[in-house]
Amino acid sequence: TGAHAEVEFKNVTFRYAGAEKAAVEDISFLAKPGETTAIIGSTGAGKTSLVQLIPRFYDIESGSILVNGIDIREMKQHTLREKIGYVPQKASLFSGTIAENVRFGAKDATDQEVMDALQTAQAIDFVNEKEDGINTYIEQAGSNLSGGQKQRLAIARALVRKPEIYIFDDSFSALDYKTDAKLRSALKEETGNSTIILVAQRVNTVMDADRIIVLNEGKLAGIGTHEELLKDNTIYQEIVES
Ligand code: GTP
Ligand code: MG
Repeated sequence: TGAHAEVEFKNVTFRYAGAEKAAVEDISFLAKPGETTAIIGSTGAGKTSLVQLIPRFYDIESGSILVNGIDIREMKQHTLREKIGYVPQKASLFSGTIAENVRFGAKDATDQEVMDALQTAQAIDFVNEKEDGINTYIEQAGSNLSGGQKQRLAIARALVRKPEIYIFDDSFSALDYKTDAKLRSALKEETGNSTIILVAQRVNTVMDADRIIVLNEGKLAGIGTHEELLKDNTIYQEIVES
């Protein structure tokens, strides 16, 4: 129930201005509401480039990207971006309290909603350990926080907006395996019918996704579940063994 949004790539090719080689080449897939679509591939494979096309940070060269069947080029930028909770690979915090940082983009969120988002993001324990809780001041760029703590605050920032589409670009990389697993299971519980698109480099993070997209040098090397890809996808097997 509730608002939801399906994301479909149809033969999408994208090239950075002046680049000889396409960063994303002829990619097609469907990311469904209520499901997790994971994107895996080695560094430089085009994962970040691909997900940044969804909020339209760049325009594609050919093909189309549809949200609920509508070409994103035909949508108002504001309408499109309102649907998306995007956690960038290098999420940045600003000088201000934890609550202010989480509320960024959702100014009307109550303290309870901030706490709920922190809970789902597995951040509530370390926040509560601080004397001032959600009113703890974050130094410039979060220098008084660990990498994993910053990632979880950035995830909470997306959660508090309750978007229809979540994009997590390598947002779990600084977390230990246990926290990573707990966070992903809490996300599944709490995000209902939202569409989750999750970029990762390690297999553990993508293993239980509904569908895994394997990228290699900008191209689609395979789509399937962990078991399916393990059986017959050499690129995926290489990632598993690395
Ligand atoms: P990791 O984040 O390292 O795991 O890599 P990724 O899979 O996210 O790859 P990404 O999408 O960042 O890069 C894909 C290709 O596009 C690489 O060849 C990059 O060098 C290139 N690229 C990335 N960003 C830019 C950019 O802003 N301009 C140009 N010209 N090329 C870029
Ligand atoms: Mg990247």
